[in-house]
Amino acid sequence: MEGAAATVMERCDILGRISEEPGRITRPYGSEAMRQVNDVVAGWMRASGMTVRQDAIGNLVGRYEGMGDKTLILGSHLDTVRDAGKYDGILGMMVALTCLERLHERGERLPFAIEVVGFADEEGLRFGTTYLGSSVFAGAFNPKLLSLKDANGVTLADAVRSFGGDPDGLVGNGRNAGELIGYCEVHIEQGPRLETHDLPIGIVSGIAGQSRIVVGFEGKADHAGTVPMEGRRDALCAAAEFVVEVEATARGEPGLVATVGEISVQPGASNVIPGEVDLSLDIRHQDDEVREQACQALRQRVEEIGAAREVVPRWHLRQEKRAVTFAPDLTALFEQAVGELGYPVERLPSGAGHDAAQMADLGPVAMLFVRCREGISHNPAESVRPEDVAVAIEVVNRFLELVAK
Ligand code: GLV
Ligand code: MN
Ligand code: MN
Repeated sequence: MEGAAATVMERCDILGRISEEPGRITRPYGSEAMRQVNDVVAGWMRASGMTVRQDAIGNLVGRYEGMGDKTLILGSHLDTVRDAGKYDGILGMMVALTCLERLHERGERLPFAIEVVGFADEEGLRFGTTYLGSSVFAGAFNPKLLSLKDANGVTLADAVRSFGGDPDGLVGNGRNAGELIGYCEVHIEQGPRLETHDLPIGIVSGIAGQSRIVVGFEGKADHAGTVPMEGRRDALCAAAEFVVEVEATARGEPGLVATVGEISVQPGASNVIPGEVDLSLDIRHQDDEVREQACQALRQRVEEIGAAREVVPRWHLRQEKRAVTFAPDLTALFEQAVGELGYPVERLPSGAGHDAAQMADLGPVAMLFVRCREGISHNPAESVRPEDVAVAIEVVNRFLELVAK
């Protein structure tokens, strides 16, 4: 393996060794691992002729000057889920960097500047939110989120501060939309469609809308050995009934996906009836109305389960993002680049969230997917082929030429 794709693969390996947890990749927002990753990537940016800054939340921004007034943004995220793969987010950043490196090596200036942005938090691992980094960049940050606490009780405001950012500077810190051509992101597909169709890359048509909700049940903690089964107000049994209900609701609606991925049980002892449970609900669909109806139905079920089991239900909408359809003009340039290079043009929607969904608040966005093995992601088994990465690099290089025309 040689050339730009080899560099991308090597860099993904290097960043994959920077983690908060030994033996697996876990890089939450604001962690020491994120600080190290930003340092390493900043070094690569400088070596590619970019000036580098970190914005108020810690997004890493490298700027390669051009000859006109406008700026094209390329990027993806540098944080990860827990026990992540090496490519989700990182691949897009590394492809963007390598394309900039090529321009720098050739001493080439385009009629626009390029900023490569490594978003500081897309996954929401630490605070249960998503798109924290890109929401600041897009000027859409919700200040109510500053009081969110992580598992250790640290607020987002404090986490921003200790990451060198400024919690008071997050609102109104968006990039000036008038200066931008748009935002383009390369990302692994995180689904099996490209592999099924034996295609190296695909063009993303849009991103599903999503709601992230915290559901709680408050029952009564009591002695596991003495309290008869009839009189119990077991919060975990209520939660268990709800989790199965979530699965059934999603199975009953084509295209709907719903997941309970986190659960906490209090007081959490084997000989105590669970008194309180909180769980996360992540629910998505390409059609916002279908997602909203499913949320309503599940909210009703939370109430019903609570009433039937005499536990007090809670429903807190933590975050919601409407579905996004991508910009036709930029997408058409990706299609042209793919077609000219002799690859079939495959358009596909994304069920996964991406910073592009948030950046769509700011201006035109487009995305390119790269095939990943068996569609697996959010898992250390994530894998991409260097040959496919080479195709993505070729397409982005051509895309930049087309934007410059
Ligand atoms: C991000 O990967 C998401 O889709 O949750
Ligand atoms: Mn992800
Ligand atoms: Mn991602």
